[in-house]
Amino acid sequence: MATEITVIPGDGIGPEVTSATLQVLEAAGAELEYDRQLGGVSALEAVGSPLPDATLDSVRRTRIALKGPLTTPSGSGFRSVNVALRKEFDLYANVRPARTLFDGGRYEDIDLVLIRENTEGLYVGVEHFIGVGDDPRAAAESVMIVTRHGTERIVRYAFEFAKAHGRKKVTVAHKANILKYTQGLILEVAREVAADYPDIEFEDRIIDATAMWMVLDPYRFDVLVMENMFGDILSDLMAGLVGGLGFAPAANIGLEAAMFEAVHGSAPDIAGQGVANPTSLLLSACMLLDHVDQRETGDRIRAAIRSVLQGGVVATRDMGGTDGTAAYTEAVIRALG
Ligand code: NAI
Ligand code: MG
Repeated sequence: MATEITVIPGDGIGPEVTSATLQVLEAAGAELEYDRQLGGVSALEAVGSPLPDATLDSVRRTRIALKGPLTTPSGSGFRSVNVALRKEFDLYANVRPARTLFDGGRYEDIDLVLIRENTEGLYVGVEHFIGVGDDPRAAAESVMIVTRHGTERIVRYAFEFAKAHGRKKVTVAHKANILKYTQGLILEVAREVAADYPDIEFEDRIIDATAMWMVLDPYRFDVLVMENMFGDILSDLMAGLVGGLGFAPAANIGLEAAMFEAVHGSAPDIAGQGVANPTSLLLSACMLLDHVDQRETGDRIRAAIRSVLQGGVVATRDMGGTDGTAAYTEAVIRALG
């Protein structure tokens, strides 16, 4: 029986990469049914809310969403719908693999997974201005929230992930030397949890040095776990190791629901031109297939993507080619055999 999922095409290049992804899923014979829903600026314009109740109700029912990027205005304007969705469904683990798909990039055989804490840290949205004299915006303050519960479950998730996938090592990246309370708690809890997994190597590293080592020698890492904002930044860096944001998938996992999305945003600079690289969302859809026990279909799509990329005959602009989304999508479908 087909599994029903919620599909939120989103903003900017979202509808283009979503349509490409659904075409490939269809061609690969994925047993999925789609409940299409609105989200982001496109939803605000269409129905007056960036996160309509109908969208939330749909995810509550299906418990699985495939989501295109949603535009978040910087500074003023509504708060991130992505962050709201992660909070609403307590999608605490953001799993971001970075894997080499084709030769000729900066590195070969990269195979890393970053587990980003997704519900607390510096992205809890507790921010305000502090007035001084007659300037109401003389300063601003953001709060970083770290809980023992939130840290324990994300670190445990990282170790369980490592165990389930035969991985050897978990690195917690932190800044406990400066932020002794918040980041210090992360380090303390990580050490406690690590003691329950004697068969998996554990190390802790300062986040800034982690970024340097990630560029100099990414092979020293395996599974990484860290606070929300650190994970946001380092996962984009890791995407850069394997060809860029066009190749970086993500899964947001909670106990009640899971949401699969590209790491990249709505790319307003190229939206509507038919040139976006759909690989990131496509790989996210493969993670969704793994999640609903259709791993074989996901593996077939991954193999088709690899063969197209290795062949190098069809390449979108971000890969240095001249092909559009449609030509690339057709090539992947042909490669499915
Ligand atoms: P972005 O990821 O949208 O774009 C950064 C650069 O990468 C741009 O030059 C873009 O053209 C390129 N790029 C991104 N995805 C691509 C793809 N699939 N194919 C080819 N090129 C691609 O980041 P930016 O510009 O910082 O953010 C734009 C908007 O997206 C913002 O409103 C931001 O809040 C939102 N955003 C949403 C996310 C989500 O829904 N999960 C994640 C990140 C950003
Ligand atoms: Mg990001």
